[in-house]
Amino acid sequence: MRSLLFVPGDSDKKLDKARSSGADALIIDLEDSIAVERKAAARATTLEFLKDFGQRLERPRLFVRVNGLATGLTDADLEVVAGRPDGIVLPKAEGGAALVHLDAKLAVREAQHDLPEGHVRVVALTTETAKALFLAGTYAGTSARLIGLTWGAEDLSAELGAEANRDAQGNFLDPYRLARSLCLAAAAAAEVQAIDTVYVDFRNAQGLRREAEEARRDGFTGKMAIHPGQVDIINEVFTPSPQAIARAQAVVAAFAAAPDAGVVGIDGVMYDRPHLVRAKQLLARAKPVSE
Ligand code: COA
Ligand code: MG
Repeated sequence: MRSLLFVPGDSDKKLDKARSSGADALIIDLEDSIAVERKAAARATTLEFLKDFGQRLERPRLFVRVNGLATGLTDADLEVVAGRPDGIVLPKAEGGAALVHLDAKLAVREAQHDLPEGHVRVVALTTETAKALFLAGTYAGTSARLIGLTWGAEDLSAELGAEANRDAQGNFLDPYRLARSLCLAAAAAAEVQAIDTVYVDFRNAQGLRREAEEARRDGFTGKMAIHPGQVDIINEVFTPSPQAIARAQAVVAAFAAAPDAGVVGIDGVMYDRPHLVRAKQLLARAKPVSE
């Protein structure tokens, strides 16, 4: 998944617009973009949308962001499992224990709604509380549902009592760079996709592109969006270029031709086993979106 577009779950208009956004996944939001008085209406609208749009063969993956486990709202939100979403986005996740907790809740709903156990996947938001930062390394092996980890700077800055999370140039400040790095390492340790956070300045295409390119450079394989206008840029940045694919194919071919070699040379450059791993990852991403 290159692009994951947030859509407020109470907005028929935006849900409708999101159908043709070109995003690899939609994250229908029941959390921060929905006022408390609108939660029930948003669940109903979301469920209706899932039941309808979910039937399409050609469609983005459909995720629902529920409210966090500490809010008391999660159980009611999870009634949307009746609409057979592809996954749940768990905000304010605090380590692997939160995943185990959500896993059990999902298994119950899957049984109730006649879905195969494990159908509903999970993407966790890993850095929204201070405590969560210290638990980033605990996701590995906790749930087979987990397919991605992402991070957020907005809730974390509120929790830290910060005045800002970016400097005057728009670059993330130290605490958020740490959160970003922890998410990246946590995803690698758990062997799931690392997904970069949202870029809220949604009219600034240049800033978005730069941030997405930096994310790709560092190992993220996708980025969340908050506006349909951000989707094309994100898809473009995270689609491996023909040159990158050709280089990866050359690395794979060189190792295939020398099965016992730990290291090969191509055009005067050394490639060893970690390069082979990276090349295979890139070729996997170059295929049409699946897992
Ligand atoms: N998904 C689907 N459609 C969206 C959208 C989104 N995230 N954001 C905007 N649109 C639609 C608008 O409804 C509008 O539709 P129209 O052309 O039919 O009128 C069109 O795209 C252009 O929108 P625009 O006028 O540029 O922005 P806006 O002022 O209507 O909305 C936001 C700005 C920030 C309120 C809106 O982008 C949004 O709701 N984003 C998602 C917020 C969210 O989910 N936050 C939680 C995660 S951080
Ligand atoms: Mg939030």
